Amino acid sequence: MSDADGRPRIGPRAHITGWGAYAPPGVLTNADIEHLVDTSDEWIVSRTGIRERRVAGPHETTASMGAIAGRRAIAVAGLDPDEIDVILLATLTPDYWMPSTAALVKEAIGNTRAAAMDVAAACSGFVFAYSTAQAYIAAGMAKHVLVIGSEALTRFLDYTDRSTCILFGDGAGAVVLSASEAPGGTMATELTTEPAGAYMIWIPAGGAKAPPSPGTIARHEHFLRMEGKETYRFATKTMATTALASIERAGLRPEDVDLFIPHQANIRIIEAVAKGLGLPMERMFVNLDRYGNTSAASVPIALAEAVDSGRVKISDRVVMVAFGAGFTSGAVTVEWTADPANGRRAADAQPRDIHIRQPLDWNSVDPIQPALAAVLAAPGPISVPLDDVVSGEPEHADRNGAGAPVAPLAGRGDA
Ligand code: ACO
Repeated sequence: MSDADGRPRIGPRAHITGWGAYAPPGVLTNADIEHLVDTSDEWIVSRTGIRERRVAGPHETTASMGAIAGRRAIAVAGLDPDEIDVILLATLTPDYWMPSTAALVKEAIGNTRAAAMDVAAACSGFVFAYSTAQAYIAAGMAKHVLVIGSEALTRFLDYTDRSTCILFGDGAGAVVLSASEAPGGTMATELTTEPAGAYMIWIPAGGAKAPPSPGTIARHEHFLRMEGKETYRFATKTMATTALASIERAGLRPEDVDLFIPHQANIRIIEAVAKGLGLPMERMFVNLDRYGNTSAASVPIALAEAVDSGRVKISDRVVMVAFGAGFTSGAVTVEWTADPANGRRAADAQPRDIHIRQPLDWNSVDPIQPALAAVLAAPGPISVPLDDVVSGEPEHADRNGAGAPVAPLAGRGDA
């Protein structure tokens, strides 16, 4: 057994057998954000490509969204939840510091056997968790691993900071990786971490260095901060080089790749990646216009949409590539082996079937910031009549996530 680059392969291959996503029904458009900070739809669209993003409702959390996406991926894989051996959940917005969000998800999806833990690598988290899952499978330690990326980022944004609050949204995506000796599946991964960028995207307070205090709250230090230009520079450089390392390790060239699923941070970053790899934009899957940057959820949401909208077929070579705080970056090259039609099975997993157990003695506050709640409560109509960033992509949602289809996610009864 050896991989394409001749290195010995130590165990079974990890194949994606299930995929799924969940987008909360609340929609925050650029026009809405104009009521919060000094910005414009024109500025946001031209600098980022983002038109709207989803906002988790008061009763939704990173765990509840991740559990729905996870249950969908398990249904698509045709498995019983108890067949999952390991649950890995990538997030930078966990429900609690402890327990892990993965532990809450395990209970919510009805699994009694799996080891469950969170993975922290910011927007690269899903790719890092995927790589960890692959290692478990290759080592023979797990047969089926559920890998989830889930984020409630709107709860950690400063809605007085126009340079960050326009960028991010909420949601979750997941895959099931299954062990198999069949050809195809995961071909190669590449992960990098560059601590020089540690303070380029960060949440200053709430950890051991700066525990919560009235001062940290007053200074907005529990919200995400970012040096946009430095991050942009890192992203455009690293996305192409990390993807290329993974592609070459798989024994391929960029032109052999049928579809890239890049982290959905900024359309200009994705265009730079395409240019860096010498590929047309048609090879890049883009849905950031409808979701913004959902951090660790970005790649698995995009993957589920790409497969369910017919952009991926058996034998296609697909590269998922991400960058994020740390600075981190990661890429994984796969040969697709699952029947895309299995995506229809996701309809068997509905949000109403997912219940995150609440603490007995906890009267939770409304987790949505008052300024954001006021804008979301404002009457419509809110619509975005401009063209899609990429032609042929699904339509935008209306304020409640209904009406115009956001196929395939809303078609599964998210609203
Ligand atoms: N609306 C209007 N004007 C704005 C806004 C806004 N929302 N935000 C910034 N500006 C202004 C700035 O104040 C500045 O004004 P000035 O020239 O008078 O000082 C001007 O616009 C230009 O600002 P820049 O920062 O140079 O704008 P830029 O073109 O770099 O775009 C952006 C900013 C979109 C943030 C870009 O730098 C970017 O996308 N960076 C990467 C961010 C990213 O991908 N982060 C995700 C990291 S993943 C993770 O792990 C969380």
